[in-house]
Amino acid sequence: MIEIRNLNKTFPATKGMLSHGEVHAVRGVSFRLDDAGAISVIGESGCGKTTIGRILAGLEPHTGGDLIFDGVNLNKLPVAVRQPYFRKVQLIHQDPYTALNPAHTIVRTLTSPLMLQAKKHGRDASWIEKRAQELMGLVGLDPRGTFYKYPHQLSGGQRQRIVIARALTVEPSVLVADEAVSMIDVSMRLDILNLLRDLRSRLGIAIVFITHDVASARYIAADGALCVLYQGEIVEYGRTDDLIVHPVHPYTQAMLSAMPVLRGLEEPGPDRYIPPEGMDEDAAAEPSCSFSPRCRWATEQCRTRHPPLISWHGMESTETHYHACFYPEPRRVVATPVQ
Ligand SMILES: Nc1ncnc2c1ncn2[C@@H]1O[C@H](COP(=O)(O)OP(=O)(O)OP(=O)(O)O)[C@@H](O)[C@H]1O
Ligand SMILES: [Mg+2]
Repeated sequence: MIEIRNLNKTFPATKGMLSHGEVHAVRGVSFRLDDAGAISVIGESGCGKTTIGRILAGLEPHTGGDLIFDGVNLNKLPVAVRQPYFRKVQLIHQDPYTALNPAHTIVRTLTSPLMLQAKKHGRDASWIEKRAQELMGLVGLDPRGTFYKYPHQLSGGQRQRIVIARALTVEPSVLVADEAVSMIDVSMRLDILNLLRDLRSRLGIAIVFITHDVASARYIAADGALCVLYQGEIVEYGRTDDLIVHPVHPYTQAMLSAMPVLRGLEEPGPDRYIPPEGMDEDAAAEPSCSFSPRCRWATEQCRTRHPPLISWHGMESTETHYHACFYPEPRRVVATPVQ
């Protein structure tokens, strides 16, 4: 089980060569991921999704808050002792081509990390070969046709399968898939989403699925949680379908309103809400709701006070559901089938 509590991350900001204050990439984010669970993290570009993924995988230090892996608060461990915990979390990037060494065959890509595992667990060379074949099977590739190929000889979908197989060499308990299907041919995307679901159900690997896309967020975490981020903060969080069916935060509603509909088969939700574009969000006063410059319902309170993340107890909501809005209200924004 992984829990993050009040996670913060600031980067030093620069303008040209000059230092220019700080970028608050992640602000007070908390969530819990059960063993074999799934959470989709969704939000627009720059809202802090990748930063959270990189912190979970130990690739970026956090600047505040707690990371609790299997009940152990990593803040309380010396940095050098944290690595085995972070190794349990493997990151899958959006671009499988740059993630693989173009000069290495697939078998070499897999056997290099397996050699380290073999050394650690006292296994011999035959174990490495068997395990490499097993991993190829797990990600749905035929070792005979693929082992001696180079990344450029594979399709984008096959390359992403290899990246996933390589992540599995260290037997992770969590995969953080950061826009893992966005650069893959549309026709192959569903296969990779199905592979992630399959790994979760067969191996019990938990998934943190980072995306801009509501449909794939739901597909991966249909029985899990959805975490909606805006400018580094959680604005709405809860069971995935609860949020999709009964969103109460205007930003979540705007995101769901922006989903394209299949013309003739569905029509936009009657309360569809598209916020104005191009407003200067930095103009929002601190403290305030960071969505207030774009929000149709913002009042003076929203512009001068910061809304905390609190429970929603609306009639429609049956599960744990949190929002950070002074005026939460269910609105019918999701497309519905044409009658
Ligand atoms: N190494 C860094 N140095 C300075 N600022 C950074 C660094 N990495 C990220 N940021 C800033 O932190 C914020 C969050 O970035 P992040 O990459 O996590 O967003 P994201 O949600 O993954 O965006 P995208 O959807 O475009 O991938 C952005 O404002 C970004 O410019
Ligand atoms: Mg990103």
